[in-house]
Amino acid sequence: MDQKLVVVEKKDQRLYDIAEKLTKHIHDVVIEYKVTEEEWISAIEFLTEVGVKNEYILLSDVMGVSVLVNDLAHHHDHEEHVTDHNVEGPLYRANAPLVKTPAQLCTDEAILNSEQPYVMVGQVLSVDGNPIPNAIVDVWQADEKGDYENEDPNQPEYNLRARIETDAKGRYEFKSVLPGGYEIGKGGPTGKFLNRIGRHAWRPAHIHFKIVAENFNELTTMVFIPNDPWIDSDAIGAVKDSLILDLKQVDSVSEQQKYGFNKAFSITEYNFKLIPEVN
Ligand SMILES: [Fe+2]
Repeated sequence: MDQKLVVVEKKDQRLYDIAEKLTKHIHDVVIEYKVTEEEWISAIEFLTEVGVKNEYILLSDVMGVSVLVNDLAHHHDHEEHVTDHNVEGPLYRANAPLVKTPAQLCTDEAILNSEQPYVMVGQVLSVDGNPIPNAIVDVWQADEKGDYENEDPNQPEYNLRARIETDAKGRYEFKSVLPGGYEIGKGGPTGKFLNRIGRHAWRPAHIHFKIVAENFNELTTMVFIPNDPWIDSDAIGAVKDSLILDLKQVDSVSEQQKYGFNKAFSITEYNFKLIPEVN
């Protein structure tokens, strides 16, 4: 039973085509599962509640559509040589403190009290391998418990956020703590839906980046902490192999002292490669 959309005049052909295809897919599902009137009403009530609770982006995320649309938008010829894009997520804040490299994303006290201090170093490079000086590495992450500062009254303003300017060799470096994974939107309609179909709401631990440099396309991505229990089942399906960090644990006391740490820490080197802007 094919549904043709009857219109007086086709004004937006692309939107018409998408609406027609979507309608066909919805009809197919209703027919295949013989969806009952009660089920359809509860689906409509669910979507209404998603709107009331402002969870459509969250629903798009957990259905994997946000990552899919992002992938399609950034599919390009240099795929093997540039850093993979990823979704920005809802917790970015503009105007984080602008600092020179090497930087520190939290207080000395937070680092000293952490289970695992963390150092991340690398370069911002052009796709041809040339360093990009004065690039802005805008970084934001959750704390060890998986909380972002703007959702946690116990953290200082702009904690674990910074805009780090790369040096003449395109290098950036920062000290921080290893972020924890977190559950997304568990209490609302989307979380209840996930629970009902037997899916979890965990995101594996990650660090977000937005890298801006003159004459290059902006890169928004996130990198993942390896060996996270949720790395193979991210609730939003954002994990890409190229974005999983290679962490090394440093036990050497002299290395610890070099960074001002009093315990073993993790370090990783990760380079970001940007695509030159086409004018
Ligand atoms: Fe995040």
